Amino acid sequence: MSETGATPRVYARIAGTGSYLPANVVTNEDLSKVVDTSDEWIASRTGIRQRHVAADGETTGDLAYHASVRALEAAGVEASELDLIVLGTTTPDLVFPSTACLLQHRLGANGCGAFDVNAACSGFVYALSVADKFIRAGAARTVLVVGAETLTRMVDWSDRATCVLFGDGAGAVVLKADAETGILSTHLHADGGKKELLWNPVGVSVGFKEHEKNAGVRIHMTGNEVFKYAVKALDSVVEETLAENGLDRHDIDWLIPHQANLRIIEATARRLDMPMERVVVTVDKHGNTSSGSVPLALDEAVRSGRVERGQLLLLEAFGGGFTWGSALLRY
Ligand code: COA
Repeated sequence: MSETGATPRVYARIAGTGSYLPANVVTNEDLSKVVDTSDEWIASRTGIRQRHVAADGETTGDLAYHASVRALEAAGVEASELDLIVLGTTTPDLVFPSTACLLQHRLGANGCGAFDVNAACSGFVYALSVADKFIRAGAARTVLVVGAETLTRMVDWSDRATCVLFGDGAGAVVLKADAETGILSTHLHADGGKKELLWNPVGVSVGFKEHEKNAGVRIHMTGNEVFKYAVKALDSVVEETLAENGLDRHDIDWLIPHQANLRIIEATARRLDMPMERVVVTVDKHGNTSSGSVPLALDEAVRSGRVERGQLLLLEAFGGGFTWGSALLRY
């Protein structure tokens, strides 16, 4: 309790970031030999130039581990100090145990709570929001938040409308309780009524039907509908975030968006009246890595020295569900 008797305010501050991309790179040129597409089409419609694809046997948990080790090092935090691990993924290693539990054991952080959050491409923003609440509530002081995916495992490599979009990767942050500053607000939304526009209809409980076994587990998407919905939803959550914090759109130093499509990113930047120099774009290098994309972009911006301590960052994401959300933080 503070001197006035009020509970002191606690923020969740990012103490360190890390990311990891698998070694194997597949360029647009490579894909044009497999399906009827071209570098020109992919780059002009999406901004993507290449994606990383996990090697045989390399799992979401492996990518998460490497990103987490880097984030812990950057934060100067030992795995044994963690109170909680929250991992966003829609491509877990196993049905259970959760990838967060597998990661916890591998990091040597045994004992702390660990669980996965499945919100498709919004997984990291959802996980960050959950972790923020734990810290604000005083239930944890040091939390590892991860977004990690091997989405290419469920890509249909004969479907040119989807296979050019996705890649594998992971990012992580270590959050620490801080009296001064950190995450200011998070905003989560979902619309389960639009599931068939972007989904993978195979599942444990609905069962695996014969034709699905043959077709494999794959992503189905109505790309142009998803595009329109994403732009609207992101516009709305950006407005909500600014209003909740009493901010003007020009107060934001950096937009760190979900890296799905450069044209969606540019639409959000226009809404914020933000020059593209203040927007972190990494989609060209790794395509849509789903939950991995926001922390990958954040880590790249931090390590390149672009994002500096004290700056105001707006993170946002949109994905299957539909799910979408944002986080505003003072880095
Ligand atoms: N190469 C060449 N042509 C392709 C192609 C490819 N890889 N993929 C689709 N096309 C063709 C289509 O067959 C269609 O041809 P048609 O006019 O002869 O029927 C044409 O390109 C236009 O298709 P359309 O789907 O309307 O294009 P688009 O401008 O909407 O771009 C996406 C397609 C997928 C790039 C775009 O809709 C998109 O990015 N949507 C959002 C997807 C997303 O971000 N999903 C994840 C959200 S987390």
